Amino acid sequence: MNREAERSLERLLPRLNARFLEAAPGDWDPFVVRLTENFERLFDLLRHLYGGQYDFFYHLEMILETAARLWLARPASLKTLDAEREADPLWFQSEQMVGGVCYVDLFAGTLEGIRERIPYFKELGLTYLHLMPPFLSPSEENDGGYAVSSYREVNPALGTIEDLRALATELRQNGLSLVLDLVYNHTSDEHIWAQRAQAGDPEYQAYYWLFPDRRMPDAYDAHLREIFPDVRPGSFTYRPDMDRWVWTTFHSFQWDLNYRNPEVFNRMAEEMLFLANLGVEVLRLDAVAFTWKELGTACENLPEAHMLIQAFNALARIAAPALLFKSEAIVHPDDVARYIAPEECQLSYNPLLMALLWESLATREVRLLRTSMQARFKINSACAWVNYVRCHDDIGWTFSDEDAAYLGINGFDHRQFLNAFYTGAFEGSFARGLPFQFNPKTQDMRISGSCASLAGLEKACREASDDEVALAVGRILLIHSVIMSIGGIPLLYLGDEIGLGNAYGYRQDPAKAEDSRWVHRPCMDWERAAARHDKNQVAGKIYTRLHHLITLRQAAPAFCGGETEIIETDNAHVFGYVRQGDAQRVLVLANFSEQPQTVSGNVLRLHGLGYAFTDLVTGASLIADADLVLDAYRFVWLQQ
Ligand code: GLC
Ligand code: GLC
Repeated sequence: MNREAERSLERLLPRLNARFLEAAPGDWDPFVVRLTENFERLFDLLRHLYGGQYDFFYHLEMILETAARLWLARPASLKTLDAEREADPLWFQSEQMVGGVCYVDLFAGTLEGIRERIPYFKELGLTYLHLMPPFLSPSEENDGGYAVSSYREVNPALGTIEDLRALATELRQNGLSLVLDLVYNHTSDEHIWAQRAQAGDPEYQAYYWLFPDRRMPDAYDAHLREIFPDVRPGSFTYRPDMDRWVWTTFHSFQWDLNYRNPEVFNRMAEEMLFLANLGVEVLRLDAVAFTWKELGTACENLPEAHMLIQAFNALARIAAPALLFKSEAIVHPDDVARYIAPEECQLSYNPLLMALLWESLATREVRLLRTSMQARFKINSACAWVNYVRCHDDIGWTFSDEDAAYLGINGFDHRQFLNAFYTGAFEGSFARGLPFQFNPKTQDMRISGSCASLAGLEKACREASDDEVALAVGRILLIHSVIMSIGGIPLLYLGDEIGLGNAYGYRQDPAKAEDSRWVHRPCMDWERAAARHDKNQVAGKIYTRLHHLITLRQAAPAFCGGETEIIETDNAHVFGYVRQGDAQRVLVLANFSEQPQTVSGNVLRLHGLGYAFTDLVTGASLIADADLVLDAYRFVWLQQ
C-alpha cells in the first residue's frame, strides 16, 4: 500500500472500529480484511476525484461508514453467496448462463406476476433475469422507469420493496440471478433530492447542475451531443419554479447528478449497496458515459467517468463482493471496450455485435461484421460480453468508421442506407422499423422496431407469404444462434422467443407517442405464448428452435469462457468462428443470405482441425471431403 493510503487507513480504522466493532464482532473481521485489501485502490481513486476539496477526509470517512453499515446490514444468505462467488469469480462465463430482460408491467403486470412466471423462465433455460427499473418514478412520462424517484420504493402499481426482496430470493432459489439497473447518471425531478433542490435547499442544489442563466449552459452545449434531439434539443432545461437551468442530458425530467460533489458519490454508493442487499446480483450501470462533465469536452467517456465506476466497484468488493456490474455504453466501440475490466465492469453489452448482425442481414454480407469482430471481440479474460439482438432501446449504427473505411465502406453513407433499409424505405427491404430521433442537423437517426418486425416477419405475415415467413423465421434464428454461441452471455428480449411484432398502440398514449422505442416494447402475448410448442404456428416455429439452441448451448462446454477465433470462411456471406473450450472445439458457420452458400472442405478441415464432424444443431454427421452447402440463413455448429 502506498504511504498515503496506509496512513489514512491507520487513522480511519480505529474510528470505524469504535463505531462498529462492538455491534457485530463476528461480522466485522471479514469487513476489515476486505477493506484492507481494497483500500489503496479506493483511496487513490477517491483522492483523484475529490482530493482537492477542503473536506476530503471527512467524505472519505463517510463513504467508509456507508460501506460498513451496509455490510453489517447484508443478510447472511447473501454473505454466503459472497463467499461462493469469491471462490468461483468467473461463474458468469459458464455455458449455462442465458439471460432474459423485460418490463415488469408489460411482461407480467406486477412483481407477483413475474414470480408466477418463474416456471416459464426455467423452461426457457434462463439463469439471469433483468427487470427494467421497477422503482418509483413520475406517473406520466418516466422514460420507461429510467427516471427514478426512489430506489427504496417500488412503483406501487407493481408491488412493494418487500415483494422485490422476496422475488430476488425466490429467483435465486430457482437458479436465476436478478439484474436491476443503477440509473446513477440522473434522478427524476420527483426524487427527494431534486425536490429539496427545487425548494431552495443549497445542500441539495449542489447534488445537481444548476445555472442561473444561459452563460454556462451555452458554453457546455457547444461541445455536447444531443441524445434526444427531436423531442428535446440541447442538454439543459429551464425550470421556472427555481428560475434555474438544469443539466438534463436525456429528458427534461431526468436531472443529471453532480459527481464533482463527493456527497453525491456517497449517497449513490449507499443506494447501490442497498440494492445489493436486496439480493440484486448484477447492476446494469445505465448511461455510464455521461457521468462526468468538463467544460470544453463532449462530457462523454471522460477518465473520471471510469474512475467513478472503479470506485463503486472497489466499494462493492468491500461490502457486497458478489455484486457485478454490467456497463451500458452505447458509444464508439473503442470507448465501449474501455469500461470492461474486472476492476470496472465485469460485463458489458455488446452493441457492436448487435448492430452488425442487423447490418449483415441488410447487406447479406459479413465483411464488416467479420473485420470488426476480429479486431474487437477479444476482451479481458476475466470479463464477459452480454450479447443481444434487441433490447428496449433503439439500434444505433455504432460501428467504427475506420473499420468501415478499411473495407472501402463510407460510414456516413452506409448508415443512411441502413436507416433506409430498416425503416422499410429501401426498395425490397423486408424490415418494418421506425425512425428514432432524426436529427436534421447531422442527418443522423437510430432505429426502433421489434426483432420480428425488423427481421421481416411483420411484412411476411401481412402479405400472407409462407416462403417469406420461413425466411423471416430463419433470420430471427440465425442472429440468435450467433448470440448463443459466440462467447459471453446471450440475453433475450423476452417476447422475441415467440416473435412478437411491433406494437403501434403507443401512438395513442400521449406520454409515449413521441418516443418510437415504445413500438418494440409490446405487452407479452400470453395467448400466443400458449402455442409455443406448436410447430405449425409461427410462435412455435421460433420458440421450439430457439429453445433447442439454448439446450444445445447449455450442453456444450465449448461455449464456456475461453476464446473465440473469428475466421475467414472465404465466402462473403458466411460468418464463421471457432469456440475452443474444455476438451471441445466447435466451428460455427452462419449464412447471412437467402441464397445457398458454399464453404470449402478445406476451410472446414483447417479451422475444424478434423475431417469428420457432427453438427450439434441437427445431429447430422459430415465428412469434410467436399464443400459444405448452407441453405438460406442456415447455420451449423460443427464438433469433431
Ligand atoms: C439508458 C436506457 C434508456 C434511457 C437512458 C436514460 O440508455 O437504456 O432507455 O432512455 O438510459 O436513462
Ligand atoms: C443511451 C445510449 C443511447 C441511446 C439512449 C436512449 O444514452 O447511449 O445510444 O440511444 O440511451 O435510447
